[in-house]
Amino acid sequence: MRYDVLTIFPDFFESPLNQTILKRAIARGLISVNVHDIRDYTLDKHRNVDDSPYGGGSGMVMAAQPIVAAAEDIRAKRGASESLKIILATPQGRPFEQKIARELAGFKNIMIICGRYEGIDERVIDILNPDEISIGDYVLSGGELPALVIIDAVSRYIPDVLGSETSVEMDTFSHGLLKYPQYTRPEEFMGLKAPSALLSGNHKEVERWRRRESLKRTLEKRPDLLEKIELSEEDKIIIKELKK
Ligand code: ADE
Repeated sequence: MRYDVLTIFPDFFESPLNQTILKRAIARGLISVNVHDIRDYTLDKHRNVDDSPYGGGSGMVMAAQPIVAAAEDIRAKRGASESLKIILATPQGRPFEQKIARELAGFKNIMIICGRYEGIDERVIDILNPDEISIGDYVLSGGELPALVIIDAVSRYIPDVLGSETSVEMDTFSHGLLKYPQYTRPEEFMGLKAPSALLSGNHKEVERWRRRESLKRTLEKRPDLLEKIELSEEDKIIIKELKK
């Protein structure tokens, strides 16, 4: 997977890409993240990337020209044959969720445009027709953190990025449920014991306990998620019990 990120703050990405899983994935050549400074595509001598909004109002608007020039340059370099997805991080986008992360992992190239300030010139959207993605109903100072969120979540689906093949499937949300509680040594801590089912050594019992806890947590904390998934007959019985 190759990511191209368009930003006016390229330094923003240095530390996050240089830690743990993403760092290792980059070092092993499983993913590459290429950060491009939008300012490098400006045409004026002051290298301006923004201007005041037509119609008045506060703040500045990111101009279309350098963003479109950067995107077209990268698109041309990737070549028409390779699959390329263009994403614009914006609070106006469709809500990012696990299934979108999985879907995006199917592309060879992902370009993420990070907006800033009060917005970007609408013609960027008209011309590039990006997939507009929001990471939640709150406003951040720019698209840089959302870009990192998307890169992290998508990269977990790239083969070999995670230590064990199965772990992304075990994540919260992968099956539409919250993850079960986890415990590690010691067996007892400050008077609290790890659940006996997990210490039993009985694989079936462990699985049953985890499924039940996943359902219980989801019912308590995110009952809306239960509406969206298909439950087995066994799950339905467990939920009925839990509701009592
Ligand atoms: N830019 C600013 N806020 C954002 C959000 N919530 N999601 C995506 N991009 C953004």
